[in-house]
Amino acid sequence: MSEPIPLKETIEEDHAIQSQQSYHLHSINSTIVIRQLPSQGLSFQLWPAATTLVTLLDCHRSSNTTPLSSLFSGCSTTRPLRLLELGSGTGVVGIAAAVLLGANVTVTDLPHVLPNMQFNMDANAGLLNQHGGGVEVAALSWGDVQHMEGIGAREYDIIVGSDVVYHDHLYEPLLETLRFFLLGSEKKVVFLMAHLKRWKKESAFFKKAKKFFDVEVIYTDLPLNGSRVGVTVYTFVRRGGEKGKFLPFTPNDNDSTSAARPALLT
Ligand SMILES: C[S@@+](CC[C@H](N)C(=O)[O-])C[C@H]1O[C@@H](n2cnc3c(N)ncnc32)[C@H](O)[C@@H]1O
Repeated sequence: MSEPIPLKETIEEDHAIQSQQSYHLHSINSTIVIRQLPSQGLSFQLWPAATTLVTLLDCHRSSNTTPLSSLFSGCSTTRPLRLLELGSGTGVVGIAAAVLLGANVTVTDLPHVLPNMQFNMDANAGLLNQHGGGVEVAALSWGDVQHMEGIGAREYDIIVGSDVVYHDHLYEPLLETLRFFLLGSEKKVVFLMAHLKRWKKESAFFKKAKKFFDVEVIYTDLPLNGSRVGVTVYTFVRRGGEKGKFLPFTPNDNDSTSAARPALLT
């Protein structure tokens, strides 16, 4: 797996290495601040695909024609969007979605990851209060039926994930979770996934996914420094469900959504 985004590190009293990363949201001239604990593992760090999603959401807020336009145009306007994030890590994407879309977001991850995620929710409570939308933190271990049923009591419009395809032993539990939320709902539910390809073996995940879902690329970011490929954003919908609705998007030099536009301040 390639390295996460460079960090500004500080040593705290308990000797855990902490770092703070700020995401400036241009559309609302506000900043999300995220605590990372890199010494505690990959769940406590920010990954490139999260940055791409935050940037796309920020652009979507100020423009009608972004890669996300088709996705959101099909959603109800009479109530706030209901969004579920899988493998949220630090929770930055969930916070951005709540603030920028006014959405009710449930951010989830393995139980030991939740305290840092809650810390980040609390750190951005002022921003969330100011701009509307709500965020709830919940445990969701992929494939865990009890967790999924607990979470699934509420119907979601969109499921989101960034950099969630990496270890091959997690492919099947993740797919099981997607089947639960996308195939178990009466209405059409979309999985919006940002992914940075690192290994050839990941094609096995997409091959399996295509047995159940129509998978489309809606956006491809420019390659990051030292990388041959950029983050790709996909939509997954249950097979046969309105294929072709989401128009593929190709960035060009003049487009402010391309990855060349930095979303990060340190
Ligand atoms: C590479 S990190 C990406 C984190 C975050 N989405 C981002 O882009 O910054 C993968 C995330 O998936 C979570 N994860 C891994 N296995 C999981 C499982 N079985 N159930 C739920 N979450 C899991 C990890 O804890 C971690 O937060």
